[in-house]
Amino acid sequence: VRRSSVQELLNSQELEREVVVKGWVRTRRGNKYVQFIAINDGSGFNSIQVVADAENFPEEKLQADGVGMGAAVMVRGKLVASQGKGQSVEIQASEITVYGKVDLDEYPLQKRGKDQKGISLDELRKIAHLRPRTNTFGAILRIRHAMAFAVHQFFNDRGFYYVHTPIITGSDAEGAGQMFRVTTLPEQNPPLTEDKSAVDYEQDFFGKQTNLTVSGQLEGEIAAMALGKVYTFGPTFRAENSNTTRHLAEFWMIEPEVAFNDLQDNMDLAEDFLRYLVRYALDNCQDDLKFLNEQYDKELLGRLQFVVDNDFQRLNYTEAVEILKTAKQKFEFPVDWGTDLQSEHERYLVEKHFKKPVILTNYPKDIKAFYMKLNDDDKTVRAMDVLFPGIGEIIGGSEREESLEKLTKRMAEMNVPEHDLWWYLELRKYGTAPHSGFGLGFERLILFVTGMGNIRDVIPFPRFPKSAEF
Ligand code: 4AD
Ligand code: MG
Repeated sequence: VRRSSVQELLNSQELEREVVVKGWVRTRRGNKYVQFIAINDGSGFNSIQVVADAENFPEEKLQADGVGMGAAVMVRGKLVASQGKGQSVEIQASEITVYGKVDLDEYPLQKRGKDQKGISLDELRKIAHLRPRTNTFGAILRIRHAMAFAVHQFFNDRGFYYVHTPIITGSDAEGAGQMFRVTTLPEQNPPLTEDKSAVDYEQDFFGKQTNLTVSGQLEGEIAAMALGKVYTFGPTFRAENSNTTRHLAEFWMIEPEVAFNDLQDNMDLAEDFLRYLVRYALDNCQDDLKFLNEQYDKELLGRLQFVVDNDFQRLNYTEAVEILKTAKQKFEFPVDWGTDLQSEHERYLVEKHFKKPVILTNYPKDIKAFYMKLNDDDKTVRAMDVLFPGIGEIIGGSEREESLEKLTKRMAEMNVPEHDLWWYLELRKYGTAPHSGFGLGFERLILFVTGMGNIRDVIPFPRFPKSAEF
């Protein structure tokens, strides 16, 4: 008999047949007449119940063989209708083989706190190699997969091309100086440079200083100027020392870039995209979302549905500052025209004032990146940030400056070196066109969709200051 996944069996209508499943024991319970073993193989949130009668599987034998929490097992048996509550089918075991057992006295996932509540998210972060086995991380990882798939589906359906932008770059896409430098190990790598006397290993291999990318946008613009509608989806790296629940040093970003789109089109695309992704999760991740909703955040499903059903509020930065200045709430950071908004301000607008997602536009030029298109007022740029409840900024984007003259002027004003970006400037020299794009932080999306409270819990291996163990 071919091995079935647990998910296949739980959905199966064909009963009274022999089946084989392989997976890990979640729980074993019962009495001296019958034992119930829940098996999960990751194929879905739910486990299948295996019924082992005492005649063939005395409890002492199961115990001695190591059929307990965490053990990897093969079960052969008959798929039958279940009498029990909460499942429609179960397996009557005829054979149980243990591949690997678990010493429960040592197993970190078996440990319980004083309150018997099980292991905390903080503790789980220290055992990133074991946490995928928990219900919580199983759910998060499956939702993460579904969201990645939905990203490609959304763009493919709309005629966008997926372009692969480089990880190692010679420029700073955001001009914010938050890069990790790439070098070789001097001891193991003979210099490539002719003059061996004074080798600069940071420059030797590529012939110039290189960094891990902070954004694929600039290379995305190259592709948009030929393919029209494109997107990148890859890892990005930022050496910002922000020990927050919203920042990672390594995170994934989705960056569409569209020729001939203006800021309005860009906002429409961002709103369609986010609503599509959230709807996709509601339609395709029901079991996992239901669990997270019950376990962590009773308002999760309602909040997701709200985003699907309601338009986002659109307003410009100047209007937002007026609202914040007259707000009753006292902020830690004062607001005045020209200052960057802190997450407390963003969340006030979304959660208290408008009570819906917000798209803020036309920020002061001095607090935004060099590539954003300057407005006629000469003071603001065609930027847009999408702000979400519980998250703050989930998307940052803009219409791009397409004029060579204005772009070089902005770069000079902001000390962005032209020699690193000569190719970017040539896009404005040869067949320049209006274009727009944005970046969605993938982990911020997953935070929103799962309702988790810390970004370190929605990526398998979080990187943040003083942490890169796994
Ligand atoms: O606003 P940001 O810095 O914009 C850009 O990088 C543009 N190049 C995007 C574009 O127009 N193509 O970053 C975009 C998004 C943020 O809104 C946020 O969701 C996420 O990336 N982000 C982070 N996520 C996790 N950890 C960090 N340190 C992040 N920094 C930004
Ligand atoms: Mg931003």
